[in-house]
Amino acid sequence: MVVAAAPSWSGVLSERVGRLGSGVFARNDQRKAAYCRRCSDPDSGLPPLLDLSLGSTDLLPPPAAITAMGNKLAAPESAAYCLNAATRPFREAVAAWALRRFGVAVDPDTEVQLLVGSQEGTAHLPLAVLNPGDAALLLDPYYPSHMGGLHLASAEPVLLPLDADAGWKPDFAAIDIATWRRLKLMVLGFPHNPTATTGEQAWLDAAVERATEHGIVLAHDNPYVDLALDGEAPALLRNPAWRQCGIEFFSLSKSWCLGGFRLAFAIGAPGLIAGLRQLKGVVDFNQSLALQAGAIAALEQAGDWPERLKATYRERRDRMAAALEAVGWPVRVPSMALYLWLQLPPVAQARGWDSETFCAALLEATGVALTPGNGFGPGGEGWARLALVHPVEQLEQGARRIGAWFAQLA
Ligand SMILES: Cc1ncc(COP(=O)(O)O)c(C=O)c1O
Repeated sequence: MVVAAAPSWSGVLSERVGRLGSGVFARNDQRKAAYCRRCSDPDSGLPPLLDLSLGSTDLLPPPAAITAMGNKLAAPESAAYCLNAATRPFREAVAAWALRRFGVAVDPDTEVQLLVGSQEGTAHLPLAVLNPGDAALLLDPYYPSHMGGLHLASAEPVLLPLDADAGWKPDFAAIDIATWRRLKLMVLGFPHNPTATTGEQAWLDAAVERATEHGIVLAHDNPYVDLALDGEAPALLRNPAWRQCGIEFFSLSKSWCLGGFRLAFAIGAPGLIAGLRQLKGVVDFNQSLALQAGAIAALEQAGDWPERLKATYRERRDRMAAALEAVGWPVRVPSMALYLWLQLPPVAQARGWDSETFCAALLEATGVALTPGNGFGPGGEGWARLALVHPVEQLEQGARRIGAWFAQLA
């Protein structure tokens, strides 16, 4: 029997897919899987994987949301395709939330859009507003789907490096006038992943000023709006010019711990919402009414949920920062929940390791998985991201494993 050679797909897949470059995350994933295989052997003596590499929380969603989904699950309409008109109760709940949260009245029909996660919305928006070759500004480090969205749209990314010594404040004055004139889109996000910086309303207002001056669309990705541990998070909706230039993305994933259910929404200028809605009409039929019922319950009945999460995240942040400091890893305590953004420790710097080499060695030696900073763009090199997504005892135990490894290396 002649066995056909395995086809090579490299010439088949688009250049666009080739540019997506999700390599760092795929490799991290493979390393975690390999570690789990090794430690599943009882003779290995290895501790279990402590996965701190994903911003996927262990904290629970509000029971009211889960009950509402459950109650609606068996209804025949929940199994049907859901066209935009049927999402109106959800859009009304979002409009009411925006009024309560920001004092801003938004039109549920023309200024609100349901999303399958803010990741989906921010990844699709560039396709709705950019032509191939158009230039778009991203912060560096950036959230990976922001760059992915530009690649999907065959757009040209222009990176604005953020500087740790400037408190990660974007320096818009560093962009020359010719570049401002070329830009069609700016994608920002404060509170910022991965640097865990809350940011300031003034930074966003400065971006709004540039956007309106140069006719640039300003997309503000704000899934952490409720998770500033110190101070209040910025919001595009607080600047009345959002109706001229902007769109803001919010999510049920972080504030209500519903990440797996993929529920988010955009509020924005009617023209941008219309464009995104038209684009999404080709891609998806919206989330089931059962999931939307859960989101409505979260917004309406569990408005205090994010506030209740903060005490847990604050304790995790402070105790993990102290535990890492105690084993010789300096930490800049961040102002937002969920992440520590860590400069590579002295043991890695002494060996000239980059972020991926360090994270791979750390995982191999300790079973603690972090995200290499280079997955967030060139500006993330030299850093690693730690997600505070396990109970504090496990985090501290992870810090002790790390400390024992540092001691061996010293
Ligand atoms: C900046 C940013 N945007 C979007 C997302 C994804 O959110 P969602 O679950 O709503 O897609 C994340 C998740 O970590 C994020 O950090």
